[in-house]
Amino acid sequence: MAKESDAAFQKCINPDCAAEFDCGQAIFKCPKCGELLDARYDWDKIEVPKKLSDFSKRWARRDNRLDFSGVWRFRELLNFCPDEYKVSVGEGQTILEQNDAVAEHVGMQPGRLHLQYEGLNPSGSFKDNGMAAAFSHAMMVGAKSCACASTGNTSASVALYAHSCGLKCTVFIGSGRIAFGKLSQAMDYGAQTIQILGDFDDCMKQVQDVCTKLGMYLLNSLNPFRLEGQKTIMYRIIEQLGWQTPDWIIVPGGNLGNSSAFGKAFYELKQLGLIERIPRMAIINATGADTLTDLVNNKKLAWNDGKVDQKIIDDYYADLTARNFSPHTCASAIEISRPVNLKKCLRSIDICDGIVRAVTDEQIKDAKAIIGKYGLGCEPASAATIAGLKDLITEGVIAADQRVACVLTGHALKDPDVTVNYHTENQGQFSNPPIEAPNDLDQIIKLIN
Ligand code: F0G
Repeated sequence: MAKESDAAFQKCINPDCAAEFDCGQAIFKCPKCGELLDARYDWDKIEVPKKLSDFSKRWARRDNRLDFSGVWRFRELLNFCPDEYKVSVGEGQTILEQNDAVAEHVGMQPGRLHLQYEGLNPSGSFKDNGMAAAFSHAMMVGAKSCACASTGNTSASVALYAHSCGLKCTVFIGSGRIAFGKLSQAMDYGAQTIQILGDFDDCMKQVQDVCTKLGMYLLNSLNPFRLEGQKTIMYRIIEQLGWQTPDWIIVPGGNLGNSSAFGKAFYELKQLGLIERIPRMAIINATGADTLTDLVNNKKLAWNDGKVDQKIIDDYYADLTARNFSPHTCASAIEISRPVNLKKCLRSIDICDGIVRAVTDEQIKDAKAIIGKYGLGCEPASAATIAGLKDLITEGVIAADQRVACVLTGHALKDPDVTVNYHTENQGQFSNPPIEAPNDLDQIIKLIN
């Protein structure tokens, strides 16, 4: 087995513990105190480009698989494993689209709203960014089998990378809780798919125990290396803005891996002197799965230099259990009530002067239809960003002339049921139902006119 990079290590995020471990271990939670782990770097030992625009040169070398990858193109900024272990299926070829029509819909000025289409990844969601990094770590530590819990996209992405890496793969999903496009991918890519009679939070608990007992490699966003890959979504956004940071990043909040990764990305870039200003971040929950919103806005939970008030969280979760609460939203991807990256997300809120909001399913479906009509489309969870942005403009928190980048996390084809239902049976403000026509040319022409 090869030596991991000696410039990288894992570190517990709990300041009272702060234990460090090398990157050759697949541990995923601090063995000393049970808190989350970060991948950290000794930057003095890494040759990071002096300016971000140096990364652009790699676009010219599409025959080099690491330069072609939208993740590994930035490899100095996630330098935890030697090149020979780096896995890629061509992830991260995603675009940032300036979209003036959606901007107008939410009340913004032209030229200010940008949509980052992570649905253009090989498995159709942002997860591939994280999997490229985490599977590289899995290869480095010699993993033979892997597992994840999922609301759908993680399972699709894990299944794709696992079969590309030759790893045995088991995915846990809540029975009846995931969109059909995603379920079809897991089965088609050959994953052993276990449907648990429960929700995502139940699956998340089971998978951790299964991985510990059977020595399987865990690919949920508890895995700090996954979040390293997801940092690159932010690098690509600022790359496409000419290496300038936007005023706001807006992201849906589920298990809170993205928001955690994005804050870390900006913190590190600032620390390295590669950006001058950190953008603000808005994290958008669905009202049916709004643990973060409730904890931050109502219970005043905060990062507090790492000394997070655990009692607030424990009481909150005890109450969920007592009420037998299970989250419900049409945005099944973010139907999560016990987000595992909660504390890292609080840190990102601190770093990015972040805010949190929740939007209803109706708002999500309307926003999704607008993105579909005027853009490349997305799945419901992704549309929470535009619904949230509209509210934040109305509230006056985001100004019409600020530069905003919304992360559209998953492809429109992931969840055709929600889309078809909105345009047919349960119509909303922007529905576009099919028109029934008799099998007759004259009448068809009459209908079209
Ligand atoms: N958007 C989509 C399309 C997702 O699939 C997810 C998470 C999120 C947003 C939330 O991202 O967890 O980083 O806050 N899906 C996970 C899964 C949980 O299992 O596929 P997060």
